[in-house]
Amino acid sequence: MTDFPFARILAIESSCDETAAAVIENGRVLLSSVVASQMDIHARFGGVYPEVASRQHVLSIVPVVEQALAQAHLTLADVNAIAVTRGPGLAGSLVVGLNAAKGLALGADKPLVGVNHLEGHIYSSWVCDSDSEVPPAPRFPLLALLVSGGHTELNLMTDHLTYRRLGATLDDAAGEAFDKTARLLGLPYPGGPSVQKAAEGGNPKAFHFPRARTDGAWDFSFSGIKTAVLREVRRMQAEGQPIPVADMAASFQAAVVDILLTKTLAAAREFGAQEILVAGGVSANTALREAFLAQTEFKVNIPRFAYCTDNAAMIASAGYFRYALGHRSTFDIDVMPTWPLS
Ligand code: KG4
Ligand code: ZN
Repeated sequence: MTDFPFARILAIESSCDETAAAVIENGRVLLSSVVASQMDIHARFGGVYPEVASRQHVLSIVPVVEQALAQAHLTLADVNAIAVTRGPGLAGSLVVGLNAAKGLALGADKPLVGVNHLEGHIYSSWVCDSDSEVPPAPRFPLLALLVSGGHTELNLMTDHLTYRRLGATLDDAAGEAFDKTARLLGLPYPGGPSVQKAAEGGNPKAFHFPRARTDGAWDFSFSGIKTAVLREVRRMQAEGQPIPVADMAASFQAAVVDILLTKTLAAAREFGAQEILVAGGVSANTALREAFLAQTEFKVNIPRFAYCTDNAAMIASAGYFRYALGHRSTFDIDVMPTWPLS
């Protein structure tokens, strides 16, 4: 077993519309985490406006990094390395965080560790607060279900930083399906939380939306559910019926949860997983969390709510393991990186 060294990592994340910085100790214990969200700004446009996002990152990056260090009661001299998200993400957003990290690393003579955003999401499930007990280390092989706005995939993780992608969505990501369905139902941005809220008062059995079969056993497809919602909405509109938003939201959410849970459990059995982890923005969904936690076959790790959507704590955690295991990356941006990483 690897002996992991003591190290503190300062991390920066700016791949989309959150400017974030965090400090972590030994990859697990979070000393600080600051997220400047641009959600209210982008809500006006009904989605992330890339040019606006990069300008906001420029405004927020320095105060956010300063706050993360201050909350950890540390200075730059106290950290062992700087970790930063280098992709995937919006180029104009990534470049702000990456250049800030480069400046800090060069100025303070610290190593720079580039982190893949998806790898960050995976590591978010092992982050714990400094005042709580550190939970057990992950047991490999483990099955990681990654459900974010841009990705839905199953990865088999055989060791730290070692992944085998078993399957992925063939069309929309689960988060994207939530966002598009919210729009169809007239619910506000961001779509995922809006659908969840609307679903609270609805009957998940009111509509039976399709659970797509895919040729690749471990692939997903969500565009069919979205189209089914659209068809129902149009039919009811044509007939002059009111749209039962709560029932539709609940039925849609139940279908997505069912697809994700069923396939993940099947893959975990097939590949002899010791445990499962669920991460990415959609892992904030209460119905999804409850469904995974209700099954008793596998131990399941799900990040705390604060670390489900984009944050720098997860980048700090993955960055620590890259640093500790001697993986250094170039100083380059990597807008559409190859994944899984080799
Ligand atoms: O991981 P993330 O913050 O950003 C990406 O890396 O894409 O994921 C954002 C996605 C969005 O599609 C958002 O609607 C979804 O996560 N999401 C949710 C919930 N909170 C965020 N989806 C369902 N239920 C939620 N509570
Ligand atoms: Zn993300």
